[in-house]
Amino acid sequence: MPPHLLAPRPGRWLWTCRAGFEAHLYEELAWAGAQPRLLGEALVESDGVPGLKPAFARAGHRVVTPLLEGTPESVAQAAARAVAALSTRGPWAVQAFTPDTPRANTQTARAEALEAAVRAQLPAERLLDDEQRAREAGALLVGLCVAPEGVVVGAVAASEALSLAPGGRRRMKRAGESPSRAAMKLEEALDGLAFEPGRGDVCVDLGAAPGGWTQRLVSRGARVVAVDPAKLMPELAAHPRVRHMQESAFAYAPEEPVDWLFCDMAWRPLEVAQLLAKWGRRGWAHHLVANIKLPMKDKNPWLMRVRHTLAGEGGWEGISVRQLYHDRDEVTVTAHRMR
Ligand SMILES: C[S@@+](CC[C@H](N)C(=O)[O-])C[C@H]1O[C@@H](n2cnc3c(N)ncnc32)[C@H](O)[C@@H]1O
Repeated sequence: MPPHLLAPRPGRWLWTCRAGFEAHLYEELAWAGAQPRLLGEALVESDGVPGLKPAFARAGHRVVTPLLEGTPESVAQAAARAVAALSTRGPWAVQAFTPDTPRANTQTARAEALEAAVRAQLPAERLLDDEQRAREAGALLVGLCVAPEGVVVGAVAASEALSLAPGGRRRMKRAGESPSRAAMKLEEALDGLAFEPGRGDVCVDLGAAPGGWTQRLVSRGARVVAVDPAKLMPELAAHPRVRHMQESAFAYAPEEPVDWLFCDMAWRPLEVAQLLAKWGRRGWAHHLVANIKLPMKDKNPWLMRVRHTLAGEGGWEGISVRQLYHDRDEVTVTAHRMR
């Protein structure tokens, strides 16, 4: 790992990732022939965007400036000029972020000040405040990556972006009622989907205890079959729209096909993938959201096998595999099947 940030090259892609996962992201990009380079903690650069979006990248932008150094004013001016020069008809959503490391996080205040200064220099009618609207509005997501060594400006079409959160750091407010931190992983996963579970939907939650995911689904109005040999939170176990099947997910079969299959089982990734493939093959669920644990050192070969199992044996389509902001040694898989 370079001790200080290496300057990304304009025209290449700058990817952010969870600190400590740079080598996994590098390997994915190398396997895709994208000529990666480790720039520093939590940052990797590559040529182009691989056809299969990299699982270990949180966000990616095409680099449009060299590393900008100097006074805050001169950096803001250079960044604003670079944004203005980007030829696009759509609006801009400008987001400053720091790489997610203790060292770079010392720059948070600087990043906030830079974002405000750059926005102040751009025509207000072309700026979009709400990143959630960026996709529908055809906006260009402009990323100002603020590191102790300097600032890099990058851009990506919001419709192509891996994440709409600055640098892929999707912070979720911890819901007051939520029984576990895991609930935030689910909310982040649902945030990126075109469809979300809602009123009247039937969901199966494999590995549901203590009930963070089940609670979030119930609060959205869904009915949930929670499958786990462990106990659920008492208020969930007694909830009229929750049915607890206190058994192994490997032994469970639904009485009829359901809308959504959720899975956060703490179990071996390939066996979980085979179980999810069985659900796909038998047409037991329409949508899939699964958190796959990857505690092993060599993660990419396992991920490949998980993908192949879900697609090849399970017939799951539109498979997305992402290490989300709230994922640790794990990735979140989403997919669907035609009815
Ligand atoms: C990370 S926790 C799930 C947390 C849950 N999503 C939540 O939001 O509260 C993993 C769960 O997987 C369950 N588990 C492990 N093996 C299982 C199996 N074979 N069948 C069902 N659940 C299993 C464990 O009992 C544990 O409750």
